[in-house]
Amino acid sequence: MWFSIDKHASVPMFRQVFDALQGAVLAGQLHAGSKLPSTRELAEQLNVSRNVILEAYELLLAEGYITGRSGSGTFVAEGACLAGYTSAAPDGEPPAAPAALKSSELAGISFRTGLPALDLFPMKQWGSILQSVCMNSSSSELAYGDPSGNYELRSLLAKHLRRIRGVISKPEHIVITSGAVQALQLIVRLLLQSGDTVFAEEPSNEDLKNILTSTGAKLHEIPVDDWGLQSQKLPVGMSPTCIYATPSHQFPLGGILPIQRRIELVEYARRCGSYILEDDYDSEFRYDGAPLHSLQSLCPEQVIYIGTFSKIMFPSLRIGYMIVPESLVEPCRQLKKLSDYQTPSIEQLALIRFMTKGYLNAHILKMKKLYKKRREHLVVALNDQLSVEFRVMGKAAGLHLVVEFVYPLPDDFGNRLKEEEVYAVILPYNRLLLGYGHLDEQQIDEGVRRIGRALRG
Ligand SMILES: Cc1ncc(COP(=O)(O)O)c(C=O)c1O
Repeated sequence: MWFSIDKHASVPMFRQVFDALQGAVLAGQLHAGSKLPSTRELAEQLNVSRNVILEAYELLLAEGYITGRSGSGTFVAEGACLAGYTSAAPDGEPPAAPAALKSSELAGISFRTGLPALDLFPMKQWGSILQSVCMNSSSSELAYGDPSGNYELRSLLAKHLRRIRGVISKPEHIVITSGAVQALQLIVRLLLQSGDTVFAEEPSNEDLKNILTSTGAKLHEIPVDDWGLQSQKLPVGMSPTCIYATPSHQFPLGGILPIQRRIELVEYARRCGSYILEDDYDSEFRYDGAPLHSLQSLCPEQVIYIGTFSKIMFPSLRIGYMIVPESLVEPCRQLKKLSDYQTPSIEQLALIRFMTKGYLNAHILKMKKLYKKRREHLVVALNDQLSVEFRVMGKAAGLHLVVEFVYPLPDDFGNRLKEEEVYAVILPYNRLLLGYGHLDEQQIDEGVRRIGRALRG
C-alpha cells in the first residue's frame, strides 16, 4: 500500500484508512473493478488490527465506494471516480485554536466598543440558575417553543421596559431574537426591498449599515451632531421605508436626542409612512440621571424598538428582542420561525429566573456605578496625559466615548497606535472612538499613555 498509518494522530486509524482509499477511488487511482487486498492482508501491511480495516471497509461499502462479493473479495465500485478530484483533506493536525485574550494582559490594550466588564458578571449565580433549569426542565420546555419567545420572559420584559424606559408594549408585541443584530436582520428582510430607501445616522455602526442595505435598499445618511440625528436635515420629498436611529445614546458620537428633534423625527416618519428602527443598545447605562424615555413611547405604532442583553449581561448570550406594532407581529413571528425557529429555550428560562430573583437589576446597578467611575477615570487620564487640545463628545452614558482633537491627527496615527499595541477606531474629523467598559483603571491609564505617545510620534 502507498500510505501508512500514524498511530499517534488525533484522526482515528480506521478514518485514516478510509480517507486514503476513498481519495484514491475518487481520483481514479484505484479503477472501478480493481480488487482491494483482504482485510487480513491490509491489516498486516499497515501493522494495525484487523478491526481497523474492517471498520474502514464497512464505511466504504456503506457509502458505495466498494462492493463486496462474498467469497471472491472486495472491489472498487463503478461510478465512484470524480473527474478533477483532488483531496480536500488538510495535511497533518488541525492548527490549535488561538489562545483567548485575557483582559488582564497589558500587552495589547483594546479600546474596542460594545464590551461590558465580562470578568464582573455574576457567573456563579448565572451558572447555578442554568444548572437548575437544565435539571428541572420539562419535556415541553425542551421541545420546539413559541418562535416569538417564552411568554413569561416577554411579560417580564414588557414590565421591565415600561418601568425603566416608558416603552409601551404587550408581551404579544415582543419577539425574542438572537441579539439586536438578528432583530435588525429580520426587520430588514421583512420591510426593505431592492429600490426602497433606508435612512441611517452618519456616523453609525458600519456592520449595522451593511445589514440595512443587505436586501438591496438604498442608504441615505442623515448627519449627526452633539445631540444626535439632525432632524432638520431630514430631506423633503423622499419617502424612506425605514429610518434607523440610536436616540438614547447615538452610536458612536454619544448624543442624546432632545425631545424637539424626537418630535420632528416622529412627525417626519408619520408623514412619510416610515418605520423608525430605534436601536436602544445600551441605554440602561446613563450616568447623570435615570434612563431616558424611549422614542417608542411617543409613537408605538410607527416605531420598532430593538433591545439587547449583550451589554447588561454578556454578548455571547445572544439574546435580544424587538417590539413591533400590531400589524408586524405575525409576519415577524413567521420570519423568526423560518430563520432559526426560536432563540434557545434554556437560556430564556434562565433569564426569567435571573430577572425574577432581582439579579439582573442588581447587576445593572453595580455596573452603572463601575462604568461611571471608569468613564470619569478615562476623562481624567486623557486630560492629564494628552498634551494636545481635544474635547470629549457625547453625554455621560454607555460603554464608550469619542475624543475630538482640535488639530489634525498625524497622517500615520493609525500605524503609531499599532506600534504602541493599542486598538482604537479613528473616525473622520480627527475623532477617536474609545470603548472603556471592559478596561480597568490600570489598563485605561496605560492605554491613554500609549495614545499620548502615538500623538507625539
Ligand atoms: C449600536 C449597536 N447596536 C446593536 C449592537 C449589537 O447588539 P447584539 O449583540 O445584541 O447583536 C451593537 C454592537 O455592539 C451596537 O454597537
